[in-house]
Amino acid sequence: MEPRIDIRDLKAEQVGQVVMFRARLHNIRKLSAHLMFLELRQQTATIQGILHEHAGVSPHFLYWAEHLHVETVVRIKGVVQEPKAKQGEVIGVSIHNLEIHIHEMHVEAQLTEPLPFTVHEAEVSKAEADQEGDTRHRVSDRARQHNRIIDLRTTASQAIFRVQSGICQIFRAHLHDLGFTEIHTPKLQGVASESGASVFKVDYFGRPAFLAQSPQLGKQMAIAADMRRVFEIGPVFRAENSNTHRHLTEFTGLDLEMAIDEHYHEVLRTLDSTFKAIFKFVYDNYRPEVEVVKRQFPHEDLLWLEETLILPFADAIRMLNDSGHRDEHGNPLPENEDLGTRDEIALGVMIREKFKTDYYVLDKFPASARPFYAMPDPHNPEVTNSFDIFCRGQEILSGGQRIHDASMLIGRMEQLKTDPKSMEEYMSGFEWGAPPHGGGGIGLERILMLLLKLGDIRNATLFARDPKSLPY
Ligand code: ATP
Ligand code: AMO
Repeated sequence: MEPRIDIRDLKAEQVGQVVMFRARLHNIRKLSAHLMFLELRQQTATIQGILHEHAGVSPHFLYWAEHLHVETVVRIKGVVQEPKAKQGEVIGVSIHNLEIHIHEMHVEAQLTEPLPFTVHEAEVSKAEADQEGDTRHRVSDRARQHNRIIDLRTTASQAIFRVQSGICQIFRAHLHDLGFTEIHTPKLQGVASESGASVFKVDYFGRPAFLAQSPQLGKQMAIAADMRRVFEIGPVFRAENSNTHRHLTEFTGLDLEMAIDEHYHEVLRTLDSTFKAIFKFVYDNYRPEVEVVKRQFPHEDLLWLEETLILPFADAIRMLNDSGHRDEHGNPLPENEDLGTRDEIALGVMIREKFKTDYYVLDKFPASARPFYAMPDPHNPEVTNSFDIFCRGQEILSGGQRIHDASMLIGRMEQLKTDPKSMEEYMSGFEWGAPPHGGGGIGLERILMLLLKLGDIRNATLFARDPKSLPY
């Protein structure tokens, strides 16, 4: 028996060979009583299959094939050939313009329920749907999310999650190369990790427990335990009732924490090199996937500078105010509050115009906009040794130096009305001596959404959790 092949791997040299593979019936087009085209799909690739009565296929076979449902899983045996006529536009990864002359087709899995929409329909981009002549209806974002399994079958979704996997792969590899150790901090906690406001409370054998809203405490304790450089890829839970395009109630954090020798910019440089490794890895290794995504989510490749732009937070506020940008009440932005999404996006547009980059850092965030553990700038305690990193005008990372001095940390906690006694284990780490250190946290879905310009974080999440959706 011929081995089963991936259609992505088909080469022009295989013309004339008999091949066998499993695929989904993506679309069926009957041209005449004797001729049918079957679009066959495997993950990110499709290929055209031909059923031709005059080439050894019985009329009965043609009739049977015509009445199969799209999305049926079939096993195909056929001969690779060059297209006889100009094909319709091939979606997905290029398969060198080959087609399959089908000799045999068997059903391996059939549908027992009707589809809410077909994957063929879900492949239509907004731009294509607006064009006259395309008779496929545009599938709404709501329908996609409600029937996520079908939407995940689109070539764009398949490509998105291959890229997501690549991001995690390079994050791990890059940090291992820099001497980091992967850790796994607990997600069930006796205290709220950052601020009490946005944690999910669960019943833990009759007493309250909380789902970790970041691995912050765990990764800092690992540093206090002399692990020097640690990272984690893990779930993060946020009980924020934020119904936006960029907030989830459960997301995946890519976090790191490291001891600092001289300056907190050692942390910034490590994170910056990690982002650049990610961008390069995606564009070098996932180019076909990026191009598949662009068909459904049109965008340009990310622009970044060899020497990353680092802008003090106060300068960014000044830049926005000087441009005439105002908050929603018509007032200039204050220097001691975090930026809102609207402000971030406006700043992103200005920075791209002025500095020709989609990727940049805002440094020295105001202390009033940071959690208790952020290290104040020794020269100006109004600001902290902390930063955010942005991609296409939206935040992808928060990070900075942490307070490692126990009495300073207690003072800061008391100021912010956090009871140090409630964090005994964490406090011990500092009371028993922790080296100067810092770190940062990246939202995996955020970076994926912004890199591939997916418009909504749900498109970058396998099964999204937001305040309105908790399907299983
Ligand atoms: P990030 O700052 O990246 O959003 P975060 O966890 O720090 O992460 P917040 O600071 O709580 O999130 O929110 C940031 C922005 O998100 C707000 O400035 C606001 O524009 C937007 N946002 C948050 N919640 C809502 C909401 N319920 N409705 C609309 N927009 C919201
Ligand atoms: P922060 O709360 O800013 O910082 O989160 C870090 C990064 O996580 C992503 N993110 C989110 N993604 C999806 N849905 C959300 N609701 C959401 N909230 C945040 C963003 C953000 O930049 N402990 C610090 C990190 C640190 O200093 O090490 C923290 O959690 O990409």
